[in-house]
Order: sequence, then C-alpha cells, then structure tokens
Amino acid sequence: MEIIREISLLRARVKEARSQGKLVGLVPTMGCLHQGHLALLDKAKAENGLTILSIFVNPIQFGVGEDYEEYPRHLESDATQVEKAGGQIIFAPTVKEMYPQGYATYIDVERLTAGLCGASRPHHFRGVTTVVAKLFNIATPDNAYFGQKDAQQALVIQRMTKDLNMNVLVHIMPTVREADGLAMSSRNSYLSLAERKAALILSQTLKQVAEKIRGGERDASAIQAFIVEKISLEPLATIDYAAVVDTEEIRPLKEISGRTLIALAVRFGKTRLIDNIILEV
Ligand code: PAJ
Repeated sequence: MEIIREISLLRARVKEARSQGKLVGLVPTMGCLHQGHLALLDKAKAENGLTILSIFVNPIQFGVGEDYEEYPRHLESDATQVEKAGGQIIFAPTVKEMYPQGYATYIDVERLTAGLCGASRPHHFRGVTTVVAKLFNIATPDNAYFGQKDAQQALVIQRMTKDLNMNVLVHIMPTVREADGLAMSSRNSYLSLAERKAALILSQTLKQVAEKIRGGERDASAIQAFIVEKISLEPLATIDYAAVVDTEEIRPLKEISGRTLIALAVRFGKTRLIDNIILEV
C-alpha cells in the first residue's frame, strides 16, 4: 500500500495500471475511515484492477463556522485500515496541491443543490462537485464509489457526471450502520454519550416512516409532521430539515409516488447528523 501526495505521481501509477489493462476504481473520502468507507473500498477492489482511496479534507466544502479545523484527521490509522483491507493506493494531496495560488474554477450543479443540505450549507455542494471533478480528472477512474448515506451528494454527483459527460460510472452503495442502527459517520466521534444515545432517533424514525409508507400512507406532509413530532420528543435533538423528495430533481413531493427519498438532518449539540431512506412506491 502506497500513500501518494502528488498529482503527478498518482497519474503515473494510473498510466502504468492502464497499460496493464487494469480498470481503475476511485473511492473519494475525507478520511477518519469507518466500515462505511471500507464497504466502498471492498466493492471497488472487487470491480477494478487498481483501487485508489482518496483522503482529502476539502476546505471549500466547509462553510464559515463549520468544522473544517476540527474535522478528525487520522492518516496513520486510516492507512493501517486500508492496508489491512488490501487497498493499493491512498491519494492524500495537500490543500496546496489541490488549490494552488491563483485557483479560480468551480462547478455548480443547479436546482438539486438548493434544498436539504444545500439550504443550510449554501456553498457546500459547489465545494463537493468541484473536488470530485478534480479527483475524477486526476485519477481518471472507470468506476467511482459513493455512499447513499449522503444521498443528496450522491444524486448531485450523478447529475454532474451526466451533464458534463464525464467518462466514469458512479456507483451508490447502501448505508452501513452500527449494530443499533446509527448510520456510520466520521462525525459520530463528536457525540457525547447522551447525544450518541439520542442520535438513534434518526434511524428509528426513518424505520417507522418506511413502515407507514409501506402501510399505504402517501401524504408527504403527514409523513413530515410525523417526523417533526417524533424528533421533538427527543430533548437533545434539534431538527434542521425533514424532507420528502423525488430522486431526480430532489423536489418536495405532495403525494408520495415513484422513487422517494426521505432525508433528515438533525443537530445534537454542535454535531449535525444526516440519515435517509429511499423507497420505491
Ligand atoms: P466522507 O464523509 O468521508 O465520505 C466518503 C464516502 O463515504 C461518501 O461517498 C459517503 O457517502 C460514504 N459514506 C460515509 N458514511 C457512510 C456509511 N455509513 N455507509 C455508506 N457510505 C458511507 O462525503 C465525503 O467524504 C466528501 O463530501 C467527498 C465526497 C469525499 C468530497 O470531499
């Protein structure tokens, strides 16, 4: 396993793999790896001859007052995990390597980024799509792997690759959860013991919502009201949004039909967690 910090060296490794007829798989991450990331790595390994896991805490996707400085950085233990999982390359560029002096270019996906996380984190997705496009240009992967945990992010990246004719297949993998249902996230490490317990409200609420919809509920506002009521019963939880949207345009639905994303963002103290389910109705 090799840790690469320079774009030019990564390009050389990719060129070498291609000359051997290998497919290239990319797993973009911000590190502090957990089983959710490793599931993406496993899938990438199974489908590609060369697998690159990138670790880059991308400054331009964090807003003012967000957790860029505090975001956990554990390259050494991440490297141990990637090595153990049989990963071949970690690409961990510096901020200067990715955004050198004079950097001026950004990618903005319209509409799909207006609501949900885009509403409370205004420049977030512009930062995500820009860094992912850069990683795609640097690693030129045949396949790239993302998690449904960040459902809006996944849909926005799929839209970007389609709109800009990027030659990469985007795979969206299911959310990996702790035994008690909490979606794995690098930010779970911010939670106090009490907040960690309270955070179960997300997956529990989504489970009940799925039951209600499977039971025939089609009124999106009834589902939203149910979510708000349920989460307000948890004193440590403050709701940021509860959305019932389609998976094409990420627009609010009145009546639930077709492929439906139910997405939540909830604050526990200073920590903002997200979770979601997608149902075929
Ligand atoms: P990060 O939060 O590190 O997540 C990296 C990838 O792992 C994302 O595709 C995310 O959806 C996926 N992931 C995280 N938790 C998961 C879980 N519990 N189950 C399944 N997949 C999970 O998302 C980012 O980084 C960044 O925005 C990035 C795309 C790397 C751009 O900077």
